[in-house]
Amino acid sequence: MEAVVEQIFPSLTWRIRHIAMYPDQPYDFVKLENDFEGTHFGLYLNHELTGVVSLFVEGTVGQFRKLAILPEAQGHGLGKQLMEYLIDYCQVQNLTKLWCNARVNAKEFYLKFGFVATDKTYTAAGYDFVIMEKEF
Ligand SMILES: CC(C)(COP(=O)(O)OP(=O)(O)OC[C@H]1O[C@@H](n2cnc3c(N)ncnc32)[C@H](O)[C@@H]1OP(=O)(O)O)[C@@H](O)C(=O)NCCC(=O)NCCS
Repeated sequence: MEAVVEQIFPSLTWRIRHIAMYPDQPYDFVKLENDFEGTHFGLYLNHELTGVVSLFVEGTVGQFRKLAILPEAQGHGLGKQLMEYLIDYCQVQNLTKLWCNARVNAKEFYLKFGFVATDKTYTAAGYDFVIMEKEF
């Protein structure tokens, strides 16, 4: 399997987000109001867009949102490859911190990359979330 990551146009994220994260919600549910202010990365597996993640920077702090790998491609290290690319990118940009609203069922995934769970938790759209962060 050959997978490469590159920066993509915001609207390319929506289909992957919808299928991988919120298939039971209307398509527009996955669009973020500030999508056009973000930096978006796509993982291409054999030239097909298979995973996405979106980064929003304020000052030296980055928030990533909507990390998603297509269901049939999950569990093969692609999420790891995309996350490692994102972390490298943040370091090159000299960010001091990266954080996310993590689905609790993905918490262990983020722990592998050095993210720490905070005590901030909430529930939205039927999912439990915990804010996780990583300092550089
Ligand atoms: C979460 C997600 C991005 C992970 O991507 P993936 O390609 O399936 O994960 P990888 O195959 O790269 O896994 C890397 C490692 O994390 C582990 N892992 C992956 N998902 C995990 C999860 N939900 N919980 C615990 N561990 C997980 C893998 O076992 C693997 O461990 P290893 O390196 O020790 O073998 C992907 O499953 C996904 O898109 N899920 C649906 C949407 C979602 O939940 N997004 C995150 C919202 S916060």
